[in-house]
Amino acid sequence: MLNAEYGTQRVIQHSAISIQQFIRVSLLSKSPVLLTRRIPSAAFARLDAACDVDLHDGSLPLTPDELKRRVKGKHGLICLLTDRIDGAVVDAGLPDLKIVANVAVGYDNVDVPAVKSRGVVFTNTPDVLTEATAELTWGLILSLARRVTEGDRLIRRGEWRGWALDFMLGMELRGKQLGIIGRGRIGRAVAAKAPAFGMTAVFAKHDMSLDELLVSSDVVSVHAPATPETRHMFNRRTLARMKRSALLVNTARGAIVDEDALVWALKENLIAGAALDVFEKEPTVHPGLLPLENVVLVPHLGSATRETRTAMADLAVRNVLAVLSGEPPLTPV
Ligand code: DGY
Repeated sequence: MLNAEYGTQRVIQHSAISIQQFIRVSLLSKSPVLLTRRIPSAAFARLDAACDVDLHDGSLPLTPDELKRRVKGKHGLICLLTDRIDGAVVDAGLPDLKIVANVAVGYDNVDVPAVKSRGVVFTNTPDVLTEATAELTWGLILSLARRVTEGDRLIRRGEWRGWALDFMLGMELRGKQLGIIGRGRIGRAVAAKAPAFGMTAVFAKHDMSLDELLVSSDVVSVHAPATPETRHMFNRRTLARMKRSALLVNTARGAIVDEDALVWALKENLIAGAALDVFEKEPTVHPGLLPLENVVLVPHLGSATRETRTAMADLAVRNVLAVLSGEPPLTPV
C-alpha cells in the first residue's frame, strides 16, 4: 500500500495546507502524536515532517491497555475505526491530548461525548469517501441482482454446464424502486446514480415512512450511522415487511442489521438476497450467512480505494496539524 500511486486531483486538492500553518507547526518543537496504524505514505510524510510520530505498525489494533499507555503525553491521537476510544483512553492522554482524529466518517468506535466533555477536539473524515462508498454500493446492488458472485463460485466449482435460457436469472434494475435509509452524503450519492440504471430512488422519512419504503422497494440500501436508534433497525419485524423479491444492501454499519434475523429472513425466503460490506462483530461473520448463495459478503471495503484512503488519512493529519498549530479543525464532529 505504501508504494502505491496516489496522484489524484482530489488528493492534491486536499493536500494543500497553509504556509502559515506549516511554519507555525515547524517552529513548535515537534508535537508527539500517536498513530494507531500505518497510513498511506503521502499523509504519513506530512505528519512526520511536523510531529514526533509514535506509530503502531502492527497488523492488529492496539489493546485498550497499550492504547492507554501509548497515548500518555501525546498531543494528538490519530485512530481508526478498529480502535475503541472511550473516556479512559482520553483520560490517559490528559492533560496533553488536544485532538482525537478518526480516519473514518463513522465514529461509533468513539465515545464522542466523553472526548468532547474533556475539552479534546474530535474530528472525522466526511466527504472524501462519499463517492467510493456509493460506487461500492452500486457494485453490491449489481452483484446481488445479477448473481455475479454466485455465478463466479459456480464456475470455480466446475459446475457450469453451458448457456441456457432459464439459467441463473436475476432481477433487472430498470423500472425498480431503490429505497434508501439515511439521507446523508452517501445516501444522496447513491441516489444520484439511480437514474443511470433506470431506478427511482426514495428516502425513508423524507419521501415516505420507513414502513412504506420497506413494503414498496425492490432494493433497500442502508446509509445511516450506527446509533442506539438505528441499532437492529432491520430485525424480524422490519425484514418481514419487505417484498419477498427484495434485496437488502448494507454498506453503513453492521449493528443496523440484526444478523440472526437476517439469516432467518433469508432462509424463510422472506427477502430474495442481501449484500453486506459491514458486520455486527467484524471481522467475525455470522456463520449462518456463509452457506447462503443469495448473499454477497465483502470485508468492509466501502472506502477502500487508493485515492480515498489517502484522502481520508490526509484529512485526519491536516485536522491534527491545524489543532496543534492553534487553528480550528477542518472537520470537527
Ligand atoms: C467509514 O469511514 O466510516 C467507513 O466505514 C470506512 O470504510
